[in-house]
Amino acid sequence: MVDRRELLKGVGLAAAAAATVAATSEPVAAEAPEALGPYASPWDPPDPDFPGRQNIVPVPDDFFEPGRFAGKTAIVTGSARGMGRHAAIRLAREGANVVAVDWLADEGKAVVDGIVAEGGTAVFVEGDISETEVCDAMVKAAVDNYGGFDCALNNAGVMDAIFPGDPIDYAKQKGLVMSRIDEASDAYWDVVIRVNATGTFKSMRAELRQLLKQARGGSIVNVASVAGLRGFGGTPSYVASKHAVNGLTKNAAIDYAPFGIRVNSVCMGTTITPMYDRAFDLLRQRAASGYRDTGIGMLKIDSLLQWSNQKKMGSTAAEQVAVMLFLLSPESSNLTGANFATDGGFTTY
Ligand SMILES: NC(=O)c1ccc[n+]([C@@H]2O[C@H](COP(=O)([O-])OP(=O)(O)OC[C@H]3O[C@@H](n4cnc5c(N)ncnc54)[C@H](O)[C@@H]3O)[C@@H](O)[C@H]2O)c1
Repeated sequence: MVDRRELLKGVGLAAAAAATVAATSEPVAAEAPEALGPYASPWDPPDPDFPGRQNIVPVPDDFFEPGRFAGKTAIVTGSARGMGRHAAIRLAREGANVVAVDWLADEGKAVVDGIVAEGGTAVFVEGDISETEVCDAMVKAAVDNYGGFDCALNNAGVMDAIFPGDPIDYAKQKGLVMSRIDEASDAYWDVVIRVNATGTFKSMRAELRQLLKQARGGSIVNVASVAGLRGFGGTPSYVASKHAVNGLTKNAAIDYAPFGIRVNSVCMGTTITPMYDRAFDLLRQRAASGYRDTGIGMLKIDSLLQWSNQKKMGSTAAEQVAVMLFLLSPESSNLTGANFATDGGFTTY
C-alpha cells in the first residue's frame, strides 16, 4: 500500500498495490424489518410553547429491500467506514455482489468479512482511489470475480489532509487541516483535491471504460456534499473539490446518457459518521489551542431537520444510503445529471 505519510505530503505518490481478497458464499440470510416505522414521534418532554412538536423518525439502520440488487454487481469506494460501509452492507443484503474499496486495510477487510459471514458476496480491494492503478484494479476485481458490474458508488472522500487511519492531534497536524486560503498549506489543498476531485475523476474513468465495453448501461452515484452546492467558511479545498464532483457528475451525464449510463450525485449536510466525529474533534482541539476566526463560517450549521430535532441530530448514514441505493437501482430510470441535496433542507434557507 502507498506510504500514507508520503500521501499526506502530497508528493511522490507511488502506485498503490491493490490487493484483492475474494470471498463469496450463499445468498444473504439476514431479514429486513417488515415495515418502515412512523414518520415522526412527539417531543419528549413536549415543547411547552408548541405542544404538537414532532421529531422525524429516521429510517431504521438495518432496513433494506430484499432482492432489489439480485444478480447485480456494485462497486463501493470508501467502504471501510461511515456511509460507504453502510452502503456496502446494505447492497449485499439486497443481493448485490459488492466490490468494496478502501485504503484502510484492516477495517476494509472486516466489512467484507462481515458481509460474507451473514451470507453475502463481496471482495475487498485495498488502495487509494486517487491512484489510477487502484481504480483499474477495482474494475478488474469486478470483472474477474463477477464478470463486470452494474453500478458504482464513488463515496471515498476526505475533509482535510489527515490520513483517516491516524489519530487527531491538532498540535502536530496544524498544516493539514481546513484553513482559510491565506492560511492554507499546499498539503491541505493538494491532498483534498487529489482524493475528492481527482479520485472521483479516476474512479469514473475506470468505471465508464468498462461500462462502455459491457454495453448494457449502468448507474454511477458520486458522493459530493452541501459544500458542492455553496460556500463554507474556512474549508476552501473541500468546497472546491466537492464543486468539482458535482461538475464531473453533470458532464458525465451528458456524455454517457446515449449509452444508457446515468450519473448523479448526492449532496449531504452533517451526517453522523467517523468523519463527522473526527471533524468535530479537530475543531474542539483547534478552539482549545487558542485559534480564533471571525465566526462567519459557523453562522449557519444546522439543516432544517437538524434544527427542528429535539436533540439537534444530524442525518444518519442509513438515511443517506437509502437515497444512494435508489439512485443506483434501475428504479431511478428517469434521473441523470442531478446534484441531489440530501441535506435535510440545509440549502433551502
Ligand atoms: N459525514 C458528513 O457529515 C459528510 C457531509 C458531506 C459529505 N460527506 C462525504 O461523504 C463521503 C463519505 O463520508 P463519511 O462521512 O462516511 O466519511 P468516513 O471518513 O467516515 O468514511 C470515508 C471512507 O472513505 C475512505 N477513503 C477516504 N479517502 C480514500 C482514498 N483516497 N482511497 C480509498 N479510501 C478512501 C476512508 O478510509 C473511509 O473508510 C465523503 O466523500 C464525504 O466527503 C460527508
